Amino acid sequence: MKDKIINSFSNELREVVEDIIIKDQKVFITLKAENPNQAKELKNLKIECENKISNLNLFNEINITFTTTKKKFSKIIAVSSCKGGVGKSTLSVHLSLSLNSLGKKVGLLDGDIYGPSLPRILNLNSKPDVQKNKKIIPLNYKNIEVMSIGFLIDHKKPLVWRGPMLQSAIMQLINDVAWSDLDYLVIDFPPGTGDTQLTLMQKLKIDHALIVTTPQDIALSDTRKGINMFKTFNVPISGIVENMSYFMCNKCDEKHYLLGKGGGEKLSKEFDVKLLGQIPFDKKISENCDSGTPDLIQSNVQLKKIYDDITKKLIT
Ligand SMILES: Nc1ncnc2c1ncn2[C@@H]1O[C@H](COP(=O)(O)OP(=O)(O)OP(=O)(O)O)[C@@H](O)[C@H]1O
Ligand SMILES: [Mg+2]
Repeated sequence: MKDKIINSFSNELREVVEDIIIKDQKVFITLKAENPNQAKELKNLKIECENKISNLNLFNEINITFTTTKKKFSKIIAVSSCKGGVGKSTLSVHLSLSLNSLGKKVGLLDGDIYGPSLPRILNLNSKPDVQKNKKIIPLNYKNIEVMSIGFLIDHKKPLVWRGPMLQSAIMQLINDVAWSDLDYLVIDFPPGTGDTQLTLMQKLKIDHALIVTTPQDIALSDTRKGINMFKTFNVPISGIVENMSYFMCNKCDEKHYLLGKGGGEKLSKEFDVKLLGQIPFDKKISENCDSGTPDLIQSNVQLKKIYDDITKKLIT
């Protein structure tokens, strides 16, 4: 199928094709340009691409996009899981803090356009400033550059996005923000396998997908969908983290497996992906997130070690 598409293209167009992904009845084509200006100049090739593919009459939906080769971020990490509420945002924050404590320059992007949660977790409420060139200056949390749609919109109004609007909103948070040259951009992915996830996977070269799960079976079946989504888009899955794995009882000094045991390990074997760590269920983690002070966990030796170990295993 891919060959059929490529064969229909002119030589000029073939040269700029970075990737073709076919999923269900949809096709995602990524074209490469050196910078956004060049992408504008290559508009005709995009039109040719669109025409050639619609003439094939094979797809219900055609997505063509340019990716620019100049990199602002050395590495991009996607923290993801199909299931909601497993602790993606919490882990994204602690991963960013750990990377920062390892001397890395880090940016943290809230990928949730419908229900952004980083403003609350990090207690960041101010509106970002805008530079003369109209780029938005990210907010700062403990030396981490942070961007969320929640900084830009009115919290009281419900967010309704239509397909193209959503795609452009999420990409604006990347392209229209004055990010520094970063060692790592950590993206807190929203739950599910919707348009935001597809846009991010298509438009960015993600270096590491970090899969978060909890030990019970219902979480595992959702997480499988998430893993398969990354596989479809050829995103390298660098590891699984099992969150809320156990509760450490102060009185008997034993681990209690409240949500079942071994789920992360099961997934790790099934997909041949490393289990990078197990994070306990700990009231301090949720309390500090709720009160907007997750950095306080950095002074808890045991929890910091768990997060730091996961981070080191992920990036080495
Ligand atoms: N290891 C943990 N111990 C205790 N509480 C935790 C732990 N990890 C996360 N939590 C709490 O669980 C709740 C859900 O976490 P979080 O918001 O990070 O999940 P999520 O996967 O990002 O959710 P969503 O799918 O809605 O984006 C939060 O209240 C958070 O403080
Ligand atoms: Mg979240």
